[in-house]
Amino acid sequence: MALRKLVAGNWKMNGSLAALAELDAIAAAASDNLDIAICPPATLIAAAAARQPTLPIGAQDCHWNASGAHTGCLSVNMLREAGAQLVIVGHSERRTDNHETDAEVKAKATAAIAGGLIAIVCVGETEAQRDAGQAVAVVTSQLRGSVPEAGTGESLVIAYEPVWAIGTGRTPTIADVADMHAAIRKCLSELLGNEGAKVRILYGGSVKPSNAAELLHIPDVDGALVGGASLKATDFVPIIDAAK
Ligand code: PGA
Repeated sequence: MALRKLVAGNWKMNGSLAALAELDAIAAAASDNLDIAICPPATLIAAAAARQPTLPIGAQDCHWNASGAHTGCLSVNMLREAGAQLVIVGHSERRTDNHETDAEVKAKATAAIAGGLIAIVCVGETEAQRDAGQAVAVVTSQLRGSVPEAGTGESLVIAYEPVWAIGTGRTPTIADVADMHAAIRKCLSELLGNEGAKVRILYGGSVKPSNAAELLHIPDVDGALVGGASLKATDFVPIIDAAK
């Protein structure tokens, strides 16, 4: 079953109010046969949503609690009030830098969905794990630990991002992406039943204009999560166009 593609940009800790000018050309690339989204730093969500009200804006993390003594954290309701419609959870940079566990990622995704946000749950193996032949085992274990039971095709997106491909210019072979996305699809069906077939599985890691068409046409690749190449419309729009 071909799912409606989603091309999402993850600005990470990049961008400024001036950079929101990029959103004009990105919003203009929208098409009725796919979804696009930009996840800027949280401080820019409100301004981004105000500048381009038809372009879905997302956050890059959330807390699982609604409020409380969690200095520096942001709740789902706060993000939604700022204008977010999606949230990335469990990005490998957060799993590494902030020691986030599968259980925490699942709690965040569960809170996001309960609060009306689409949760993009990230998974992916390190290079050592792939070299040891453990890539599928690692990713399916992350899915078992981090996919919320409440996930549906509408509310949940998975992003497969091999850690060694993020920001490195390197990508897995087409066959490796196809094998991993098939394994993720099978695992989602085990975890979510019929709904597992409707959850979009994005590929992420060094997606750029030159490789987007090839990656986006692999079976079970339902879109892309794009870091560096989402910062400039001149790079991101060709990736959106490749998904059309
Ligand atoms: P990249 O990052 O496209 O810069 O490799 C992808 C991501 O981390 O989401």
